[in-house]
Amino acid sequence: MDTDPMLDFSGQVALITGAASGFGRLLARELGDRGAKLVLGDINEAGLAKIADELGGDAIEVRAQRCDVSSERDCAELVELAQSAFGGLDLAVNNAGIAPPMMSLEETDEAEMDRQFNVNLKGVMFGLKYQLPLMKQRSGGVILNVSSMAGLGGAPKIASYAAAKHAVIGVTKTAALENAKHGVRVNAICPFFALTPMVTVGGEELQAFLANGCPMKRLGEPEEVVSAMLMLLSPKMTYVTGQALSVDGGVSAY
Ligand SMILES: NC(=O)c1ccc[n+]([C@@H]2O[C@H](COP(=O)([O-])OP(=O)(O)OC[C@H]3O[C@@H](n4cnc5c(N)ncnc54)[C@H](O)[C@@H]3O)[C@@H](O)[C@H]2O)c1
Repeated sequence: MDTDPMLDFSGQVALITGAASGFGRLLARELGDRGAKLVLGDINEAGLAKIADELGGDAIEVRAQRCDVSSERDCAELVELAQSAFGGLDLAVNNAGIAPPMMSLEETDEAEMDRQFNVNLKGVMFGLKYQLPLMKQRSGGVILNVSSMAGLGGAPKIASYAAAKHAVIGVTKTAALENAKHGVRVNAICPFFALTPMVTVGGEELQAFLANGCPMKRLGEPEEVVSAMLMLLSPKMTYVTGQALSVDGGVSAY
């Protein structure tokens, strides 16, 4: 186990949504390997069961439950699981998200707007609504919301996604201000394109096109994003709250 105090999560209870794939899956492994007890949620039950089995097989304490983050009840029940299984909650990562189909603003219909806002925005707000009281009860905790580079600037052809991810940053800053005096830190992370299934599904031609827009001329590795997540969750990052950290190979420096 990693004994670096910066990354020592021993005994901490960590909830992660969207844990069956991509960043969420990798983060679960990293936190579990560093001593955290895990509460994992995802709409993909088979994927969730697989990762929970893998982690449990390596002696990591883990509970997993189907959770559609667009359902307030599901989000409440995932937090209840943290309480009933492990007696509370120290870390929460509102990571579950969906990619939009490419379409112009004029082509974007209400159904697509609802889909994006329900998962990518309300999923985060429902999470916060139930995670915060449990953390406040214990006078402390850390929450990380997953936004995007599309939360910091315009994102042609994915207007609804950009709107939801911008809103995640507004909600993050608001939650940070409302809860700083209660010892709860709330930050957001804003990755540029990284090679999770959400992006690899688009094929190599799209990846090359996207990489060309990055100063490093490559897309991010999921591990590089998860390293930044671990840093923001670290028990040593005690004076950092209300931030939206870009993890983008330099894109936001343009
Ligand atoms: N990969 C990237 O390039 C990138 C860039 C910026 C932001 N993000 C954000 O990172 C987060 C994680 O994405 P990823 O790249 O790991 O993608 P991914 O597709 O690999 O994983 C997303 C996970 O979320 C789950 N999910 C989807 N809808 C859900 C719902 N309603 N309730 C619960 N779970 C649900 C999926 O089943 C999946 O397991 C998302 O919020 C995404 O918008 C990703």
